[in-house]
Amino acid sequence: MIARYPLLLAAGLALAGSLAHAGPTDDLARTCNGCHGLNGVSAGPNMPSIGGLPETYLKNLLLQWKKGERYAATMDRHVKGYSDDELAALAAYFSKLPWVPVVQKADDKTLAAGKAATERCETCHGATGGEPDDAETPRLNGQWAGYMELELLKYRTEAANMPHKKMRNNARKLDEADVGQAARYYAAQPK
Ligand code: HEC
Ligand code: HEC
Repeated sequence: MIARYPLLLAAGLALAGSLAHAGPTDDLARTCNGCHGLNGVSAGPNMPSIGGLPETYLKNLLLQWKKGERYAATMDRHVKGYSDDELAALAAYFSKLPWVPVVQKADDKTLAAGKAATERCETCHGATGGEPDDAETPRLNGQWAGYMELELLKYRTEAANMPHKKMRNNARKLDEADVGQAARYYAAQPK
């Protein structure tokens, strides 16, 4: 029995050590990582990466879901248990992680069509989706194509509650055939 104590003690100290380094937000973020991936880098294809997105953008979405002001498949349920301060802390936490694009290859024809279809999107998202012009605009380069296509469909659907009017209008101006190509174009961009 006694021979086991040093081991238990060592394990206990290691645990205490790791807890001392992890702040309260790390603990909250662990729940998110189960779906959004370690450090907010998602394994896809319909689950978005969230690490490195702008703080204001993240905070807007989390609060809109909490207040029932934004369409959600599931995210409204995941934010319910948190205070506004905790959601703000989560937004700050994920925004400080690096954006890690998951580059998804596409053929030349798709890339050319996607580039042409996204000309009017450049002013806000940058030519490759990697240079958002303000803190309310997400990065799109190396985001998951399947997820971006779903998002564009939501912005295009009248019945889906998506509060950002300009993004709704822009998504609706795309030809139907261009929705998937625009998503695959951004998904293929390393930066
Ligand atoms: C059970 C899986 C699951 C968990 C856990 C989860 N999410 Fe999500 N998340 C989703 C899904 C699915 C979506 C797509 C939006 C929707 O329809 O609900 C999403 C979308 C998002 C987005 C939108 C990203 C974008 O650019 O469009 C953010 C931000 C986000 N989640 C943050 C979080 C945070 C922070 C947590 C932890 C408190 C969390 N999520 C926990 C499944 C999950
Ligand atoms: C006026 C600026 C503006 C223009 C132009 C614009 N966007 Fe957006 N886009 C935004 C903002 C802001 C958001 C976040 C909106 C929100 O909070 O729902 C967004 C969100 C998105 C998303 C969702 C990303 C995610 O992680 O959920 C996609 C995809 C997207 N835009 C693609 C496009 C495409 C394609 C075009 C052109 C057809 C376009 N955008 C034009 C500002 C713009």
